[in-house]
Amino acid sequence: MGEQTKFATKLGIIATTVGSAVGLGNIWRFPYEAGMNGGGAFLMVYILCVLILGIPVMCAEFVIGRRSKSDTVDAFRKLAPGTRWHYIGYIGILASVLILGYYMVISGWTLEYLFKAFTNDLAGKTAAEFKAEQNAFIQSDFRPLLWAYIFLFINYIILSRGVQKGIEKMSNILMPLLFVILVVFCVRSLTLPGSSKGLSFFLHPDFSKITPQVIIRAMGQAFFSLSLGMGILITYSSYFNAKTHLIKTATTVALLDTSVAILAGVIIFPAMFACGLNPATDSASVVGPDLVFVTLPNVFNQMPVSTLWSVLFFLLLTVAALTSTVSLFEVTVAFLINYMHMSRKKATRIMMLIVAVLSTIFSLSIGSWSQVRILGKTIFDACDYFSAIILLPVGGLLISIFIGWVLKRHISREELTNRNKLHEPLFNAIFFSIKYIAPIIIILIFLSGFGII
Ligand code: PHE
Repeated sequence: MGEQTKFATKLGIIATTVGSAVGLGNIWRFPYEAGMNGGGAFLMVYILCVLILGIPVMCAEFVIGRRSKSDTVDAFRKLAPGTRWHYIGYIGILASVLILGYYMVISGWTLEYLFKAFTNDLAGKTAAEFKAEQNAFIQSDFRPLLWAYIFLFINYIILSRGVQKGIEKMSNILMPLLFVILVVFCVRSLTLPGSSKGLSFFLHPDFSKITPQVIIRAMGQAFFSLSLGMGILITYSSYFNAKTHLIKTATTVALLDTSVAILAGVIIFPAMFACGLNPATDSASVVGPDLVFVTLPNVFNQMPVSTLWSVLFFLLLTVAALTSTVSLFEVTVAFLINYMHMSRKKATRIMMLIVAVLSTIFSLSIGSWSQVRILGKTIFDACDYFSAIILLPVGGLLISIFIGWVLKRHISREELTNRNKLHEPLFNAIFFSIKYIAPIIIILIFLSGFGII
């Protein structure tokens, strides 16, 4: 890697980092988590997690990445030589590979639906038909895998072109496209008759639903959505330049990412209500993980020019997923390039193979292998829970302890103020949050979520 590997422009820095953050987590996962866990109340807990934990932990990752200019394992070796802190980097690599495995499967589903939308195969079906087709599709052995492998191959093309020509160029094109599609959808959804009921369902807080388990889920969702706790942002910030304003970048990314999650809710719930679906009374399958694959195509079918809306929506989902999977890969690719001195192409190929094997297992665990259970969950669900809800916050906890208690404070100050060139009134507050608030709250949320306090 070395000094040359950098993002070329300021826009590129924001586009790539927001590209990593905005993904299936915002458009597929967030709306159903919110829908099932108290609507507006979940949203409030979620926003608090972003502000109190997300932004400080993101700043902590930026300090580590830009200071060390290295991959997520080597970064800790450089900053704390002779210690075991680099194990945090290995946790990150484990989490990225696991998440990639199942993320690729769902990304494959989005390609299948994009294809169906294009070929007009979604038009004119009933809700029951959508459900039956979706079930048959995700449980079949071959077709979901084919799409996952195609998605993997698209990742390969981008990653093997390198940081500027591959990752940055793709993000500069795709992220503006994503925001345009989102805005078009918002206007469409909010002008449907009866949409206000959906808005009030999404934004109305039902505090009775807020339990310690829900808070743990909101925290996991925040880490997942902001791509935190696994070294992705350590790797990406090693490509930032000396002038990048880290605190401003972190707040911008958190703000844009949260806006996309909220916009997704603002699009999805009013559209559902306008079509006579009520997530509060209809079965969990209407709002659960099936939300975007079963419920929404059905909703689009009831609008004029339904094919256009389906194509746009699944294009949105595909774009969001692609910029995120590329960032997940880059953590491991950068590690292999540095640590094993491999060429980028070779590192990317090896990672493709590993992820292809994992995706195969995850995809089959929904169909043929669904009897295999880990703690009562399918392999797929168990991995999602273990990586997103447990590993990421644990990674975030260790990263904040590292910055707050191990690395010298003046190093964080130098990074967050660009060596005192920036007047940074927020430095003390951010450092305080990294040192005390984030670790204590993450530990408390875990203890109460697991019923220990
Ligand atoms: N943040 C991405 C999303 O919301 C997913 C992701 C998670 C990407 C973790 C990288 C790391 O979909």
